[in-house]
Parts: sequence; C-alpha cells; structure tokens
Amino acid sequence: PEELIMKSPKRIAITGAAGQIGYALVFRIANGDLLGPDQPIILHLLDLPHASGALRGISMELEDCAFPLLDKVVISDDPHVAFRDVDIAILVGAQPRKKGMERIDLLEANASIFVEQGRALNAVANRSVKVLVVGNPANTNALIAMTAAPDLDRSCFSAMIRLDQNRAQAMLASHLDKPVDSISQLIVWGNHSPTMFADYRFALVYGHSVPFVIQNEQWNREVFIKTVAQRGTAIIEARGQSSAASAANAALDHMRDWVCGSNDRWVSMALPSDGSYDIEEGIFFGVPTICRSGSIERIRDLDINAFARERLQLAQDELRQERDAIRHLLV
Ligand code: NAD
Ligand code: LMR
Repeated sequence: PEELIMKSPKRIAITGAAGQIGYALVFRIANGDLLGPDQPIILHLLDLPHASGALRGISMELEDCAFPLLDKVVISDDPHVAFRDVDIAILVGAQPRKKGMERIDLLEANASIFVEQGRALNAVANRSVKVLVVGNPANTNALIAMTAAPDLDRSCFSAMIRLDQNRAQAMLASHLDKPVDSISQLIVWGNHSPTMFADYRFALVYGHSVPFVIQNEQWNREVFIKTVAQRGTAIIEARGQSSAASAANAALDHMRDWVCGSNDRWVSMALPSDGSYDIEEGIFFGVPTICRSGSIERIRDLDINAFARERLQLAQDELRQERDAIRHLLV
C-alpha cells in the first residue's frame, strides 16, 4: 500500500465505453490487468450523449467494485474532456458490423469519428500518449486519427491485430496439441480483415521450430490462414454480435506489452509503415515487433518468400483502397 501511494495515477481513456467491448474492458483495467498491481489509474470513459445513463451506471459499478487501484472515473461525451492529459487511449467507440457485412463496409459510418477524436487527442492528450485503435476498420481508422493529430508523434499510434495473433496462436496450439503459451514467434501481417496473413513460418514450440506443420502447406493455406481470417465472422454468426471479451482481452495484451514490454516475445501490431518489407509508408500494417520499456521495435529483415509476398501485397492493395476511399478525411 505504501508503494501505491507513491506512484502517481495514469490516465486511461476508453471510447465507446458503454458498448460491449467497453463493458468487458473497463473492469479489467480498473483491476490492474493492464498496468499491474501497483499502478493507480484514473479512467476516462467516453461515449455518445445517448449513452450517458449507461456510462453513469458503469461508473457506479466501478465504485461498487472498490478497486484499490482506481483513483477516479471521469465520464463524458466530449472527446476534449475525455482525452485531457491521458497517457493511454483505447479507441473502441464505433459501429460494429452485423451478419453479412465486411469490416470495410463500416468505413463510411465510422471514419469521421476518428477525425474528431484524432483532433481532440492532438489538442489535449499527453504528448507521449499511446493510442490503440480497435473500432473497425481499425487500420484505416488509425490512419485517420494519426493524420488528424499532426502534433503527436507517429509512434503514438497503433491499431489492433493482436486478436488475430491470439486466435492464430490458439489454433496452432490446438492443432499441435501443445499448451498455447508454448508457442512463440507467430506473426499476423497486414490488415485486420479477410486479407490478413497469419504466418507461422518462424513459429517455435518450446523454443524449437515446428517442421511438421511448416511442411503441411495445404493445411496452412486451406485451413489455418482462412480460419484465422474468418474467425470474427464465425463469431458473429454464432453469437449474433461481434466478439467482445476476446477483443477486450487482446486490447489489454497489446497495450500491456507496449507499456510494460513484451519480454522478448514477438507481438504483432498494426503500425504506420516505415517502408520496411516494401510496404508503402504511412498505411497501418500488421508487423512483428518486440516491445521494450514503452517503445516498439520492429522485427526487420525476415525472409519474405513468394507466397508471403503475394499475401502482403494483397493486404497492401486493400489498405490502399481503404485509404483512397477516405482520402478526403486525411487533412
Ligand atoms: P457496441 O455497439 O457494443 O459499442 C460501441 C459503442 O461506441 C457504443 O456504446 C456507441 O454509443 C459508442 N460510440 C459510437 N460512436 C462513438 C463516438 N463517436 N464517440 C464515442 N463513443 C461512440 O460495439 P462493440 O462490440 O463494443 O464494438 C466496437 C467496435 O470495435 C466496432 O467497430 C467493432 O467492429 C470493433 N471491433 C474490433 C476488433 C478488432 O480486433 N480490431 C474486435 C472486435 C470489435
Ligand atoms: C473481430 O475480428 O472479431 C472483430 O473485428 C469484429 C468483427 O467484425 O469481426
């Protein structure tokens, strides 16, 4: 308890906090699952005016949990209030897709949210804020937010592809009949969309390569890559609503690794491309990284064979198409 008193609180904004991912996220953050057991937190919850009652209810429930780490809760429908001085911003608030839609179909409905929120972050957030975009289509929404925040460094922005990495890891573990945490160095490249490329060419099980799977090219192409890429759709079909708890969990994984370090583990993050792997600069592209004390290092110079090049190209083409569709918002 003495140490708790010593550390000053970190401010964490969550947008769309009254939605289903928000509900799965805020209590875990308040419990210390993101920043650890000795870091006090101030939660900033943002949602639209119609959800103000729901936000008040969540705030009451947070109070009733008596979380030792929760210093204060700020609720607002104004991004300039919700983002003031925040150290972390998790941008969830956006429409989810329904059965029969692709994530790209949400671009028109959601894109303008990220102009407004990018501008507000630019105006009032901590200058070293870490931003994670979850609202779909996440990669291009992150590009919109980053472009609307020219005074913040590009390295402040990321989009989520961690749910896909977690899905791929669980699937590979199950296929090999090994524990999920025995697997490392699994990558998901590209866009959080059906073009994503789950890539186990470098994967290790207990630190050793997995030749049996790697040689099974038919399983790779016809089952593994496709099932990972279609998992979000499978969940919508089964549940009638898109993933929520697993998405919240992936957001925590992404942000915790970024802030606290990934302990030399490779983690996939969608970042503004720096031109590596011949991906056009600027677009948000899922790449392998290692996080160390608050900064992200890209893993460079991995071998890209002909099939991998084809898959990366597909994702790049789609991201360019998404960017071109909202080019008028990139001001
Ligand atoms: P939801 O409809 O349950 O909640 C969304 C919330 O956002 C609502 O409370 C809504 O009022 C709020 N909102 C909408 N516009 C807002 C704005 N301008 N400012 C603040 N709040 C706003 O949806 P959900 O299931 O929580 O999903 C949220 C988003 O996350 C969707 O776009 C969904 O597709 C996406 N998602 C992404 C991933 C991923 O891996 N990147 C995974 C799952 C879901
Ligand atoms: C997911 O992958 O579960 C989310 O992006 C939600 C969706 O629309 O699939």
